[in-house]
Amino acid sequence: MKAILLVATGMMFVAGVDAAPSTQVAWTPATLDFVEKGDAGRGKALSAPCAGCHDGTGTNPSLSGQLPTYLYRQMQDYKNGNRQDPTTIMNTMASALRDQDMADLAAWYGQQAPMRGAGGASDATGIAGRGEGRRMEPPCSSCHGGAGQGEKVDTPRLAGQSAAYLEATLLAYKSGQRANDIYSRMRLIAAKLSDAEIRQLADYYSRLK
Ligand code: HEC
Ligand code: HEC
Repeated sequence: MKAILLVATGMMFVAGVDAAPSTQVAWTPATLDFVEKGDAGRGKALSAPCAGCHDGTGTNPSLSGQLPTYLYRQMQDYKNGNRQDPTTIMNTMASALRDQDMADLAAWYGQQAPMRGAGGASDATGIAGRGEGRRMEPPCSSCHGGAGQGEKVDTPRLAGQSAAYLEATLLAYKSGQRANDIYSRMRLIAAKLSDAEIRQLADYYSRLK
């Protein structure tokens, strides 16, 4: 599948942000088609070594019901080193996966019932639904959807995700440790949030059903 590894997104220069390409995955029609045709049956078998960790507790993200395109790109980014897991576990896990394995795993997880929060969500910062004009923060919902359901092509679902994981990964965008978001979209947004707001937003999205 040669079409996948086109270096596409690279050269957008943003002040203060590393100009290295954030990902090697280009969403060409061929790549989208390849991910869409992932074999969920094969993905299920391949997911056995992943299950012990990916239960959505603590800082282990749930993958259930997540967008396959998003999952596929994260696996490629771990393999290429564009996304660095601080524990390096995911970089090691992904290094053993071929393109077809990643598409199959993404198809399997994408078909699972999505994670659901416990309810009682409150958008205490107002930023999730309204954004904040003064800091030029767009509403999170403008990309992640009004119910945190995620959007095509690869904006992830947040609803019901582990709060500890959401907080940790937002802090990683803020510090620049996680740097595989195309055009620094999430880094620029997270950099303007206080740690307290990050905690509140993580709590809000984790509670959505
Ligand atoms: C030892 C525990 C462990 C195992 C085994 C493991 N993972 Fe992970 N995985 C993690 C952790 C922890 C993270 C978050 C890392 C980070 O912050 O970058 C993660 C992140 C991910 C992500 C990104 C999720 C997101 O929302 O961005 C994907 C996709 C993923 N893993 C897929 C897999 C697959 C597929 C397997 C099996 C082949 C697997 N993982 C095995 C612990 C594990
Ligand atoms: C301009 C569109 C856009 C806006 C606005 C936006 N996001 Fe994102 N977000 C994205 C995209 C695209 C990704 C995936 C980027 C990547 O690959 O790292 C993402 C990733 C994330 C992740 C990582 C999820 C995971 O499973 O690892 C979190 C958490 C997140 N966003 C939270 C937020 C919050 C909270 C806000 C509001 C303060 C917000 N986002 C606003 C587009 C957006």
